[in-house]
Amino acid sequence: MNITVSAPGKVILSGEHAVVYGYPALLSAVNRRLTFSLPLQKTDYPKDIWELEKRVRDIGVKSGIPLGSGMGSSAAYAVAVAAMWLKLQGISTKKKINELAYNIEKKHHGNPSGADNTISTYGGYLWYRKETESLKTFQRLKVPTNTPSFYLINSGKPEETTKEMVDFIGERIKDRSRVIKDIFLQIEKIVRHWAQSLEKDLPFNLIKEMIRDNQRLLVQLGVVSPVAQHMVSEVEKIDGAAKITGAGGRLKGSGMLLVVHQDVEKLKLLVSTKRWDMLAITLGEKGVIIS
Ligand code: PMV
Repeated sequence: MNITVSAPGKVILSGEHAVVYGYPALLSAVNRRLTFSLPLQKTDYPKDIWELEKRVRDIGVKSGIPLGSGMGSSAAYAVAVAAMWLKLQGISTKKKINELAYNIEKKHHGNPSGADNTISTYGGYLWYRKETESLKTFQRLKVPTNTPSFYLINSGKPEETTKEMVDFIGERIKDRSRVIKDIFLQIEKIVRHWAQSLEKDLPFNLIKEMIRDNQRLLVQLGVVSPVAQHMVSEVEKIDGAAKITGAGGRLKGSGMLLVVHQDVEKLKLLVSTKRWDMLAITLGEKGVIIS
């Protein structure tokens, strides 16, 4: 028997970092996936999930999700391993896959919000909120049919891990709790506005303003490096908008920037002049697939 699993990467449209503290986030699965297949004999099943993980590592995964850039590669991996393990136990419900993937993520990263594994499991557009460790609420939202094209521009791999960035905000909250909470509340407003706007067609200018406002708040949080902020300013100068998507980074790169522009040719010209890496993405992609 050969089982194949495939799980998508994601972008956080709005709500990174705030989501760790119980504020909502809006995420979308993207058309970049991680896939692996395992040939399995009934007599040769792995005895536990860690043995399965080891076999997966030996066989190798195919992944179109850039590593450590805020696109949820580690969550997609956790979801795919969880899906494979549960399939071997005869279980294929998304709820179980998501729960197990969250536990794998916790082993690797400490205190994740659970947003990344949830979007990779369910796909589409997702409203997500971690109320408490054991209560996470989320809802799949309507995938808009008429939305601007989204791009990712690589601002460079962050020097810091996601955990280090989350810990950095944890320290800031201890010192400047009111300031940070105020930023989170402003981010929440953007998340709500964006989620409500999905009911209708999303005008370009609305998305542009939400992305710009969110990026300014992320700069205030301190999760954007000077290199990344310089790139964002260059995109804004030609009338586009860009924000980090994910944990960000302070010292070198801040991972992928989520970018929109009404005139793609102008954006492409900037990218080629600056010799940046850019990829076009589609949002609202399918969650985990087992075949
Ligand atoms: O950079 P990523 O894909 O690991 O995203 C992390 C998003 C955070 O909100 C910073 C952390 C989390 O667990 O939600």
